[in-house]
Amino acid sequence: MSIFTRNKWLPVALSAALVAGFAGCNDSDDAGPVSQVPQLPLDPQLVAAGQQTFRFDTFGDETFWTDTLQMHTVIESAVDPLTAANVGLKIDADALPPEVVQGIIDGSIPLDDPQTTLVLLSLNAVVGVKGQVSTGNDGKRHLDRVGITCALCHSTVTKDVHVMAGGTTDLAGIVGKRLDGWPNRELQPGTIISLSPALTPGQKAEYVSWATKFGPGFYDPRIDANTDPGSNPAVGHDIDANIVAYKAAGGVPVVIPAALGLVGLNNAIFTGDGDTAHEPAGPVAYWNRYVGVVEMHGHGTFSDERLTINGKPLKVDHRVGGDDLITPILAQLEAYQWSIAAPAIGTEGAKWGVASDLDTQKVASGKAIFEGSQAKCSSCHSGSSFTDVNTFGLHPASDSVALDKNYIKLSATKQWRVTPLKGIWMHSPYFHDGSGAFNRTTAKCMDGSEIGSLAGATDRVRQDLACVVNRYNDSKALWLTDPQRVDLVEYLKSL
Ligand code: HEC
Ligand code: HEC
Repeated sequence: MSIFTRNKWLPVALSAALVAGFAGCNDSDDAGPVSQVPQLPLDPQLVAAGQQTFRFDTFGDETFWTDTLQMHTVIESAVDPLTAANVGLKIDADALPPEVVQGIIDGSIPLDDPQTTLVLLSLNAVVGVKGQVSTGNDGKRHLDRVGITCALCHSTVTKDVHVMAGGTTDLAGIVGKRLDGWPNRELQPGTIISLSPALTPGQKAEYVSWATKFGPGFYDPRIDANTDPGSNPAVGHDIDANIVAYKAAGGVPVVIPAALGLVGLNNAIFTGDGDTAHEPAGPVAYWNRYVGVVEMHGHGTFSDERLTINGKPLKVDHRVGGDDLITPILAQLEAYQWSIAAPAIGTEGAKWGVASDLDTQKVASGKAIFEGSQAKCSSCHSGSSFTDVNTFGLHPASDSVALDKNYIKLSATKQWRVTPLKGIWMHSPYFHDGSGAFNRTTAKCMDGSEIGSLAGATDRVRQDLACVVNRYNDSKALWLTDPQRVDLVEYLKSL
């Protein structure tokens, strides 16, 4: 019997008595959060500079992606635009001159030729990838240097631009307008890194496994952190053994989250590691420094005593000749991310292919359920950002109902920040491990549960959200009926 039908016969009094208490929740009122970080309005000049940084700054990470990983040779010889699109890379429509668009449409610019990729790179049109392209005596283009920017993972493009390649194939969703701060949930960062000839077989296997085991849109931001600070974190002869130890410690990739809707929140990332105590520039800047240095290998330094490797505090120094290309841009980069509000489905759903066909009556009853004493969602998802991070703080490990219990172990806090919920309609699947997801083939959620009347919905967002509600319903014994769950899903979609 499906869990959806089993509960609806329970009398309300009994179900209320059975509601399990959540650890560490505050019964917060909706008073404004106590913020240690700036609110809007932000300095427009700082924001504009930050946009350039977010989109185009590699912080000198070509040192890693070119000199160490040799990605320039792989791209030049083997990565045509169609291959790039298959691993989730996006093209900025606004960076394409009309004659290039025309060439793609009439087929004179072939999409199965790596030379075209170099053309796109020279136009600065590949979202999140910066290349320096030169032309040789033979007339062929060469990729001299390549690096990555924040936009690789945290920008995508709209699905409402229709360039017809060769007159027949619609490139909607591949070529489009930039959506900064929106996670690229089609990107396969592990598969891309695995193309590097510098990796050991053990490393390649690990990176390839992210897409095959978890799917696109996953990245493991802790994997480099498990190696000796003295050695190059991602490549080295001892790395296979390191990976084994790292996996044993709980290392696992997570979904790429949105880098927007974060203004005023005291803590950044799923586990709240980012705060002003550990990075004076701010909570988002903490994490930007971490990723910029430790993962992207930009020129700069990162250290945090709460994170240890082989018993020693994590200390990474990727400066070259003492240069620091990260610290000076942190404030503007953070301001730009703070400036991006979570998108509203009514105005922005259409360009993302998500219908804003909300049933207002269901939204209203769903809101009452969200705030009511049976589901108690708003005891943690409180205030205008739907998180109690400023009023309550971080939560114990047991407060996440996601299936994965390991990711938190490699964090600095070993706790959870309650995820802000505005704009979640645009980034399913849900939870840090994507375990709030509906599998259309098996017609079940990842936890094996069924979604009752929403199984027939054509809307992926509603189906995935139904699986989120199921996780809560099952692990916290909420005894929500099928109609209650449908209403709650409608409300979540509307946020
Ligand atoms: C290779 C992919 C990748 C790149 C490149 C990357 N990130 Fe992230 N980012 C992630 C992942 C995965 C997480 C989730 C980590 C967590 O929450 O534990 C994350 C988390 C974040 C968050 C936290 C969001 C929240 O809810 O608090 C912000 C903000 C962010 N990244 C901004 C940036 C910026 C700015 C850059 C460039 C300096 C960057 N990221 C580069 C993958 C990436
Ligand atoms: C005890 C505090 C708490 C309560 C109560 C709570 N949540 Fe959460 N919620 C969290 C935490 C912590 C996360 C992050 C978990 C993770 O990613 O592993 C989360 C994540 C989510 C997400 C995923 C957001 C995303 O972007 O991935 C949704 C949706 C959500 N909660 C909805 C609800 C609903 C609906 C209810 C009521 C049925 C509820 N929550 C009750 C703490 C809570």
